[in-house]
Amino acid sequence: MNFAKKILCIGAGYVGGPTMAVIAAKCPQYKVTVVDVNPSRIAAWNSDALPIYEPGLFDVVKQARGRNLFFSTEIDAAIDEAEIIFVSVNTPTKSFGEGAGKAADLQYWERTARNIVKISKGDKIIIEKSTLPVRTAEAMSSILNANEKGIHFEVLSNPEFLAEGTAVADLNNPDRVLIGSQLTPEGIKARDQVVEIYANWVPRERIVTSNVWSAELSKLVANAFLAQRISSINSISELCEKTEADVTEVSRTIGMDSRIGSRFLVSSVGFGGSCFKKDILNLVYICRSYGLTEVADYWESVVEMNEHQKRRFVKNMLRAMFNTVAGKRIALFGFAFKADTGDTRESPAIDVAMQLVKEQAKVVISDPKAIDNAKIDLASCIDNVEFVSNPYEAAKGAHAIAVMTEWKEYHELDYKKIYAEMERPAFIFDGRNVLNHKALFEMGFNVFPLGQPALNHLKTV
Ligand code: NAD
Ligand code: UGA
Repeated sequence: MNFAKKILCIGAGYVGGPTMAVIAAKCPQYKVTVVDVNPSRIAAWNSDALPIYEPGLFDVVKQARGRNLFFSTEIDAAIDEAEIIFVSVNTPTKSFGEGAGKAADLQYWERTARNIVKISKGDKIIIEKSTLPVRTAEAMSSILNANEKGIHFEVLSNPEFLAEGTAVADLNNPDRVLIGSQLTPEGIKARDQVVEIYANWVPRERIVTSNVWSAELSKLVANAFLAQRISSINSISELCEKTEADVTEVSRTIGMDSRIGSRFLVSSVGFGGSCFKKDILNLVYICRSYGLTEVADYWESVVEMNEHQKRRFVKNMLRAMFNTVAGKRIALFGFAFKADTGDTRESPAIDVAMQLVKEQAKVVISDPKAIDNAKIDLASCIDNVEFVSNPYEAAKGAHAIAVMTEWKEYHELDYKKIYAEMERPAFIFDGRNVLNHKALFEMGFNVFPLGQPALNHLKTV
């Protein structure tokens, strides 16, 4: 079959897989290939058990796979035939050398760029889909265009704004698609080709173009602003606990101000996910490298507040449970960093579980989708942790339940049955404020919501 465009995505992860599946489903006229160095990941994309859990994704993949969507490990052949290459490899925080713990580790990106140069026989458009530090496109362009074959590579930035758990809906109906390019004739021509792809289903007014540096920076800043809202409301949750104000009421009231808006004001045990912390630390690193100490400190405090929120959650548990949890069974309801995903990267549940293990609690992890990842995350203390998918079994004989993830099913459990099989006094710490606290209190639980007065039969706190 003759395809109108041959598109390649390097990196078949949480972004590359869903993004390309949606492009292929929306644009049957394009051939879309997704490659990865990880053969088991590619095998999973080609099977009925996709490597990531994402509502609605399997239907989209099934619609296009084998028709115009292909998952492959044949990276070189795919590079050779593609006209447009999205690069969606991971860009974790650097763990070594200069900038360790803050800067982005660009080795996967650079390796990919060098491979593209080696294989290519003609001009190509290279698109940064991964989240990258501002001005990375300059370095990439230098590496790509330092070839002696006379090939021109135009580097664009098209950062991805999807959130996990709602990836398919976000891709089908994005708030905006951002395409950054050089403002040269070649840059604009390449940009227009990418606009044309998204215009197959995204209204034109939501396809935003900008210069390439603004596009790179906008992605980091969007994540920093979202995370900053969560840290802001989480800081207020602590004040609420001291003053008998209720953070859900404060949040609802301020969110009704159209200048503030209601989203991302849900207080929690802390934000997780692979990107907020990484991207803010990267922003901080960039600011420091330009000598912008105050700006860097300001954004770093967003991450510090998040760490504080996780720590104080466990401190509250300890205080409520008579200052010791040693030997006590504690069931964590949820381990994923948010509902509707099996992803546990930077999940606050990791820190909470590890802190509880340090306090010598018997920690039991329950989650509908994330148990396998939880086992990997807690490998260092696996002997002190149990993994039980069924929440009723997990809570059997427990002194406390701590809700870590807002899975809908936790709201719907029979807590009378759970209470009957727990130790007394029984505690619930709701790190997501998703349960019916009053009803639980009336059943006999001592209930500790976030940023709301505790409902405690014991009056010890
Ligand atoms: P991921 O770890 O799930 O996937 C990255 C994939 O790239 C892996 O499968 C890895 O094997 C592959 N890879 C690495 N080097 C490669 C190479 N040289 N050749 C071929 N494949 C290679 O990561 P992700 O969550 O998809 O994130 C990718 C990028 O997108 C990151 O920069 C991230 O910040 C950004 N992002 C992520 C999300 C999200 O929700 N996860 C949302 C927006 C943006
Ligand atoms: C986030 C952004 O929302 C996406 O736009 C972005 O593309 C993505 O990061 C990325 O760059 O990786 P994601 O991390 O998948 O998406 O999920 P979010 O819905 O943003 O949630 C992040 C964390 O914040 C979760 O732990 C969630 O529970 C927490 N959260 C979210 C709160 O604690 N309160 C809120 O009000 C909202």
